[in-house]
Amino acid sequence: MPSVFFQTFGCQMNVADSDTLLQLLSQKGFILTSTPHEADLIVVNTCSVRENAEKRAVSRIAELSALCKSGDRELWVTGCMAERVGEDLKKKVPGVKRVIGAKQMDRVDEVVEEIFGDSNDQTSVFATNSVTDFVPVMRGCDNYCSYCIVPYVRGSEMSVPAELVEKSVREKVAQGIKEITFLGQNVNSYDYKGIDFPDLLEMVSAVDGLERIRFTTSHPKDCTEKLIKTLARIPSLCSHIHLPVQAGSNRVLSLMNRGYTREHYLSLIDLIRKHIPHADLTTDIMVGFPSETDKEFEETLSLASEVGYTQAFMFAYSPRQGTSAAKLSESITEQQKGERLRALIDLQTEITRKIYAQSVGKEIDVLVSGRQEKRDRMWIGQDKGCKRVLLACKDIDAGMILKARVVRSSGMTLIAERI
Ligand code: 5AD
Ligand code: SF4
Repeated sequence: MPSVFFQTFGCQMNVADSDTLLQLLSQKGFILTSTPHEADLIVVNTCSVRENAEKRAVSRIAELSALCKSGDRELWVTGCMAERVGEDLKKKVPGVKRVIGAKQMDRVDEVVEEIFGDSNDQTSVFATNSVTDFVPVMRGCDNYCSYCIVPYVRGSEMSVPAELVEKSVREKVAQGIKEITFLGQNVNSYDYKGIDFPDLLEMVSAVDGLERIRFTTSHPKDCTEKLIKTLARIPSLCSHIHLPVQAGSNRVLSLMNRGYTREHYLSLIDLIRKHIPHADLTTDIMVGFPSETDKEFEETLSLASEVGYTQAFMFAYSPRQGTSAAKLSESITEQQKGERLRALIDLQTEITRKIYAQSVGKEIDVLVSGRQEKRDRMWIGQDKGCKRVLLACKDIDAGMILKARVVRSSGMTLIAERI
């Protein structure tokens, strides 16, 4: 049987895309390997969101292409970098046989059919032993935040038909999946024949056997009271909202073309806290946007303190060629960016630690996702928010939802005991 090795960079959408390609290849007879040396086909699924992500992918591609010199192994480059500079890579890196850009990944079933024909060797797809999975509900982005390459490489917004989303969820639940995460660059702008995102959540929450539903990413400008009330009302919807703020200063937000103010963002946070008091809030924050002053950076710090995020993904601004922000002169040095990022990470680490510590003594529901490697009696799971939980107990299995009491917190993990 031919075999395939996957190396995936970037966001959860890329993880979902790699999985879709793997499922399609498995129908053509491929098996998955855990090392590139054993594989007949190597797929590198790439990310373009920051320069660093591209650099890491380029060096991995170079390394893997060396394994393809003999010609009996193929290298494919897929995803955002393949969209942006794929043809260049194909010319410059000898082993790269095929590029499948991010836009083509949206219809990768057709691409695989073009390559291998439409007959399937295997009728069954890979049996998944996992309890959580992703379902993309939106593709592309129309927001054109001034720093962001995504709308250029992933194209404009498209909502996946609601009946296809539902079908995909039903299939996954039938395979044993207990928790689904809906994916999109901006799930809040979902619109399929008048069905908006809260309607979609409501529809899918009726699927029998589906214990939990999550979603990411939400754009604050489209986050509605209807969505928040729906989250508060339907028990299987997790109490976690990822709401990227990016910056705390109105001038910077406007330069970023984010479409909301600090005050509007904070009013959304108030609304979430009013309806779902125990919700975990997480965010993405960027420092060192062109012309960001020390004072404006401090507004980002004060916003992070005011909101009290359970977790944050924090980045230094990285200019992306072709975006409108790349035309602004870069007034902030790399050193300044580094210092600001460090200060923000330090602040957020402290906030995260405090929020985790507040859970000690509380009763939580844990969805058990698997065993912790090398530690026999330890299981890993997640509460209904976004917190990782370690659970020491016997006679349980992945996929169970257990009542537990938090006995300790350590950094970004809760240690709990089954009740
Ligand atoms: N530089 C740094 N961070 C970026 N992000 C998107 N584009 C850039 C960029 N050019 C961050 C944003 C976004 C997250 C996925 O990546 O915070 O929400
Ligand atoms: Fe990029 Fe903004 Fe779209 Fe997010 S909403 S993908 S940051 S353009």
